[in-house]
Order: sequence, then C-alpha cells, then structure tokens
Amino acid sequence: MRTQVAIIGSGPSGLLLGQLLTEAGIDNVILDRVNKDYILGRVRAGVLEEGTVGLLDQAKSGARLHAEGLPHDGFSLAFDGRDHRIDLHELTGGRRVTVYGQTEVTRDLMERREESGSLSIYDAVDVAPHNFDGHSSFVTYVKDGVARRIDCDFIAGCDGFHGASRKAVPERAIRSFEKVYPFGWLGILADVAPVSHELIYANHPRGFALCSMRSATRSRYYIQCALDEKIEDWSDDRFWDELRRRLPTHHAEALATAASFEKSIAPLRSFVAEPMRFGRLFLVGDAAHIVPPTGAKGLNLAASDVHYLFSGLIDHYREGSNSGIDAYSQKALARVWKAVRFSWWMTTMMHRFPDTGDFDQKIQEAELDYLTHSRAASTALAENYVGLPF
Ligand code: FAD
Ligand code: DHB
Repeated sequence: MRTQVAIIGSGPSGLLLGQLLTEAGIDNVILDRVNKDYILGRVRAGVLEEGTVGLLDQAKSGARLHAEGLPHDGFSLAFDGRDHRIDLHELTGGRRVTVYGQTEVTRDLMERREESGSLSIYDAVDVAPHNFDGHSSFVTYVKDGVARRIDCDFIAGCDGFHGASRKAVPERAIRSFEKVYPFGWLGILADVAPVSHELIYANHPRGFALCSMRSATRSRYYIQCALDEKIEDWSDDRFWDELRRRLPTHHAEALATAASFEKSIAPLRSFVAEPMRFGRLFLVGDAAHIVPPTGAKGLNLAASDVHYLFSGLIDHYREGSNSGIDAYSQKALARVWKAVRFSWWMTTMMHRFPDTGDFDQKIQEAELDYLTHSRAASTALAENYVGLPF
C-alpha cells in the first residue's frame, strides 16, 4: 500500500491531523495498536482553547462541540478558605475556553473520518517507522498475524508518550528534558450536577483539588494524591470526604455526590524531546512532550503541533515549498516551552509539595496573593490559560 502521510496513533493529534489532510485532499492512513472502543474509553482532558476549536471546525468536526460544549468565561482559584475569580473574558479582550471532553473530541473526529472514507487500521501490532532519513520512508506493522508495509512521503508520530515513533529515533539525535512531580491526580467522573458552573482550582493544606465538569449533569473531580496511592483504597465516600475538606465551606456544603463510574490515578510530569523532526518523521503531541494537567494544556498543545505540521505539509504539496516543514520543529517547540513553563508554574503554585519548608510555603502564599491583587499578574495567567496565539 502507498499513501502520502502515514500517521501512527489515533488519539486527538493523529485524528486531527488526518482529518485536516483528508479535507485538503491529501491521502493519509492512520494506524493504532488498540481498537476504537479502547481509545474512546480513555477519560482525559476537558478544556479546549479557541485555537483548538478552530482547528476542529477546519476539520469539519466541530458541530457537536458547538452544540454541546460549555463556553467558560472564567474560573475560580480557591485558597485560604475563599474564592478568587479569574475573569478570562474581561482580562483577555473577549476570549474564552470551551469545556468539552477529549473522549467526545476523539469520537467526533472518528465519525467524520468514517464519513469521509479515509483509512484507519486498528489493532495494528508492532507498528514501526523506517527509513525516515532517506527518500523512501515506510511503516511496517502486523495485522491479523500478517506482516504488512505502507510506503509514504512522510510519517507523523502521533503515538503518545509510550509510542514507537520517538523510540525509533537514534538516542544521539534526540535530547530530552524532564521533571517528575512527587504526586499524582486521582480523578473521578460522576453523573451529578457540578458544584459550581465554573471550574474551581483549589490550593489547600491537604493538597490540590480541581472541580471540573463534562455537562450540566456530569462532574469531573480531581484531588492531588501521593504517588503510591492505590485506587482500591479510594472508595467513593473517601474521595467525596477528601474533596469536601479541600474546598471552601460554601462549596463543600453545596457539593452533590453520586456513585462514580470512572476512577483513575495519573502521575504528573513535564517532558520535552528536541527536535520534533527527524528527516521525514515528525513527532506530534504527547509523543514529543508531556505537561502536568494543571494548566489544561496537553490536548491543546497536541492541536497546535498539528496546526504547524499541517501548514507545512500544505505548503509542500500545494506550493512545492519545504520551508514550513523545515520550520516545524522550531515553531512547535517555541510554543511548547511556553506551555511547559505555564503548566509547571500553575502546578507549583497550586499543589502542596511533600518536602516544602516554611520559606517555600510563604512564597506560594505571596504568589497567590500577588496574583489575585494584581491585574497584570491575573492577565498573564488568563492569557496563558486561554492559549497563546499559534
Ligand atoms: P494520545 O492521546 O496518547 O494518543 C496516542 C495514540 O497512539 C493512542 O491512541 C495510542 O493507542 C496510540 N499508540 C501508542 N503507541 C502506539 C504504537 N506503538 N503503535 C501504534 N499506536 C500507538 N491533558 C489535559 O489537558 N487535561 C487532563 O486532565 C489530562 N488528563 C490526562 C490523563 C492521563 C492519564 C493522560 C495519559 C493524559 C492526560 N492529559 C490531560 C493529556 C492529554 O490527554 C494528552 O495531551 C492528549 O491525549 C495528547 O494526544 P495525542 O494524540 O498526542 O496522544
Ligand atoms: C480538566 C482537566 C484539567 O487538567 C484541567 O486543568 C481542567 C479540566 C478536566 O478534565 O475537565
């Protein structure tokens, strides 16, 4: 088989890139090692920047998002028993974010791909990119026990942090930067009305908590937990009690609870691999970088990578110019590092670190006090949260 762009990974970055290419008439094939239901069973991000929404529209996959997504003009920072609202809309000259789950983004892109007839191959085993330094790149995989090969012009490695694409690059050609945080997030989903109509990010002596949502009747809540916590030790009752303790009293009293139907623990890390291009292989999204979820940037960064790569591929196929793909790594990384910085800063400001001394604690309190009393500081937070320009 031959295609123009072989895409490894059917997460948000692979599906978005694939659909933009398909809508632009550029042939592509998506390969994933698991099946569609498995991918749709993952519960992850929930906050979309305007740039991400624009790309989903461009990929003709934004209709349900506009009908069912929840526009948010602000969120709350809770600490010291009180709430401070960050008015995103007012501080950024009218910008906002949309709360719409990654699962739904993925479902909409998969449905649009099916309608448009482009090929996705699921349950592909041992997917591997080859010969990306040369002119005849190809991807190999095993399907139904048979070894197969797809020849292509370019390979997009959209296969997440543990994928095959980054691993195929020789160690000497890549440089990694990493910071691992000494805690994780325990998250749940429950069919119950959200405690507030806006998100609440809470800093409490017992640890961070986040109140988010998926709809007017579905809540997504997270609490900071130790890395060695076991999910079996967290009954729903224990989770709700702990969440209540970390919220200001008026929210704790208003919190409605129900049985959870999803519960998982995610570790927090910052990671960047440089560069993001190796000849005809491009790393995109989590394959190249990970951010802690505190700033809601992971999915949005995957989308901005796709934007830069898609523009470069369009220039290549339509104008015969390689300047866009030559600039991909540098342009994507410039935006990635700003989001890495923001996510690290939000994480540092909002969590309790196990080894924090009195000095660091005082600095954190001063940071929150400054942030909530200075319009300049609030504006810096707001403009990063709604998303820096592409
Ligand atoms: P992924 O979504 O990881 O997709 C990669 C795809 O590649 C997968 O479908 C996988 O099956 C496939 N794949 C992997 N290896 C191979 C292989 N060898 N061969 C073929 N296919 C392969 N971000 C936020 O903003 N907020 C959050 O709350 C949040 N929570 C998260 C919780 C967890 C547990 C994780 C892991 C991430 C979370 N993120 C969150 C980050 C966000 O979900 C990611 O940034 C986003 O999914 C990146 O999309 P992606 O398409 O690049 O990678
Ligand atoms: C959600 C996740 C985040 O990491 C975040 O910062 C905001 C919301 C969510 O899953 O809804």
